[in-house]
Amino acid sequence: MRSAAAVRLRTNAKVNLFLRVRGRRPDGYHELESVFHGIALADDVEVRATAGHDVEVDLRLADDVIGEVPAPHENLATIAAGRLSARAGTKRGAAIAILKRIPLAAGLGGGSGNAAGVLVALNELWQVGLGSDELKQVAGEVGSDVPYCIEGGTALATARGEHLTALPSPASMWFVLGISNHPLYTREVYAAWDDLEPPEEVGSAAMIFALGAGDPGEVAALLHNDLEPAAFGLRPELQAKKDAMVAAGALGAALAGSGPTVYGIATDRAHGESIATRIAGDFDRVVVVPSSPH
Ligand code: C5P
Repeated sequence: MRSAAAVRLRTNAKVNLFLRVRGRRPDGYHELESVFHGIALADDVEVRATAGHDVEVDLRLADDVIGEVPAPHENLATIAAGRLSARAGTKRGAAIAILKRIPLAAGLGGGSGNAAGVLVALNELWQVGLGSDELKQVAGEVGSDVPYCIEGGTALATARGEHLTALPSPASMWFVLGISNHPLYTREVYAAWDDLEPPEEVGSAAMIFALGAGDPGEVAALLHNDLEPAAFGLRPELQAKKDAMVAAGALGAALAGSGPTVYGIATDRAHGESIATRIAGDFDRVVVVPSSPH
């Protein structure tokens, strides 16, 4: 039986404006220094508490999203509900409906955002009463990007990605997302990174300064992602797609997270649309979106 109370959320995608991999850790994860930035491409998440003990997730793809829906036990929303239930100490029931507009396994953090939304909603609906730090701790058990997704906006992330410091950022920048229908799996990209020479050390200070100054041109010039050589090794066509984004007029371009999405920064919406028209043939789908403050 379903209870009437429902929490509806929109969970945003993110890009990493800066992503430095500092090295592999003894636990197999990688030590990061990364600047996350929320963008206005969002999934709809509706969460209800149910009387039973089961967590049901109904995940649907929006018409323009092509991809394979993950099995329930691999779905981060299901995993998030399970972790929160374990933390609450009693098995609880929930019905979760997700409409995906963010492509899956695309480097845009869509699944992590869904998991964060589920944690926030069920903390309330199940009356678990976790404070923000405790909720972020559970989020970190679900996935490295999930603690960031609870806050959204712009943040510096260190450790596995779960240590966060909020950053000031220009009110809005415009992004052109070049989407591929063929997923890239994060663990495979990190495994490929392990086989490469360690990258040159680059710090995030200049990027943080450019964000604080509210200068999108400077932000675009400083985009950096240490996962690019690994991802481009696995999917050589991505380098050419990044080059095409710049040739079409983007102020700067980079791989989103572990890819395969390539994004560019535009001066405004009209500039973003003109880049999108030029690169339409290079990608399976192109989307133009502004920043999202939270
Ligand atoms: O934390 P999450 O489950 O999202 O990470 C997916 C995979 O990405 C991990 O299994 C790991 O291989 C890799 N990863 C990593 N270092 C990080 C984050 C992710 O090696 N900081």
